[in-house]
Amino acid sequence: IRTVGVLTSGGDAPGMNAAIRAVVRTALSHGLKVRGIRKGYHGLLKEEIIDLSARDVSDTIQRGGTILQTARCKSMRTTEGQQKAAAICKKYGIDALVVIGGDGSFAGAQQLANYGVKTIGLPGTIDLDIACTEYTIGFDTAVNTAMEAIDKVRDTSTSHERCSIIEVMGRDAGYLALWCGIANGAERILLPEEKENFDEAALIQDIMANKRRGKKNYIIINAEGVGDTINLAKRIEEATGIETRATILGHMQRGGSPTCKDRVYASTMGAMAVEMLIAGKYNRVVGYKEGEFVDYDINEALSMKKKISNHQYEISKVLAL
Ligand code: F6P
Repeated sequence: IRTVGVLTSGGDAPGMNAAIRAVVRTALSHGLKVRGIRKGYHGLLKEEIIDLSARDVSDTIQRGGTILQTARCKSMRTTEGQQKAAAICKKYGIDALVVIGGDGSFAGAQQLANYGVKTIGLPGTIDLDIACTEYTIGFDTAVNTAMEAIDKVRDTSTSHERCSIIEVMGRDAGYLALWCGIANGAERILLPEEKENFDEAALIQDIMANKRRGKKNYIIINAEGVGDTINLAKRIEEATGIETRATILGHMQRGGSPTCKDRVYASTMGAMAVEMLIAGKYNRVVGYKEGEFVDYDINEALSMKKKISNHQYEISKVLAL
């Protein structure tokens, strides 16, 4: 390979810049040329392609968001779009492409691989919902950001002896909710994975029992995939007579300076992506499992299924006593 392309795709995540920087500098140090593709696959199809030098990524490791910007691209799901994207890579001499994003972005990379572009996927999403890895770039920062915000809500909730329901992101996955629930000592965590077992009447009973036990607030962490946060708050207030407030943390969870872990892991993964390409390994996804950085065939990675920890969910209930 002579030229490596790099793009970020899907929702941005803190640490993506550290990964881009590592791709750029590792590739340059091996005498390769690097092209940055702006705004994900959307930018690729629009030929928004720039050369990247070592200086272009200076002062970026500490910045949230993605310097390459990102987008969600529907055309990349069509054969026409995929063929066009592969042809554009060829036109710009991009023989290998590092895609930083989630499962949807990897599906695009998988298709490009079928058209002869050598691809490496790096897991980048605050949702932690990629099956082949226990770590995704951005989760650590996002979960810490949410945790700090929820601590603040708890302060005011205690002062007023209220019930507070706080919605965190995560699309269809409950990892942010589960981790915040445990880290913030929430009285209840509502997970999309447990949606069928949700018993609103039992929750109302528990909120009242919690007050009788002498607790001064009741914190519910609600996952975005469960939703209905505002209405649930109204129903709780009506049923319990306890003042209830809803907070939707929203996109503040996606921004901000990456944590040390996100910087270090994203840098490692970015460097690994290029080292793998140089070693002739491609059409693979980098992950982190059982204390080690690993890589999987992209088809295998995309066929894996992930399950949220029931054990941790059960622990969170006991700790809410
Ligand atoms: O995948 C990251 C994420 O922040 C999800 O948690 C959320 O469901 C979604 O992206 C929001 O997407 P958008 O920024 O396009 O509204």
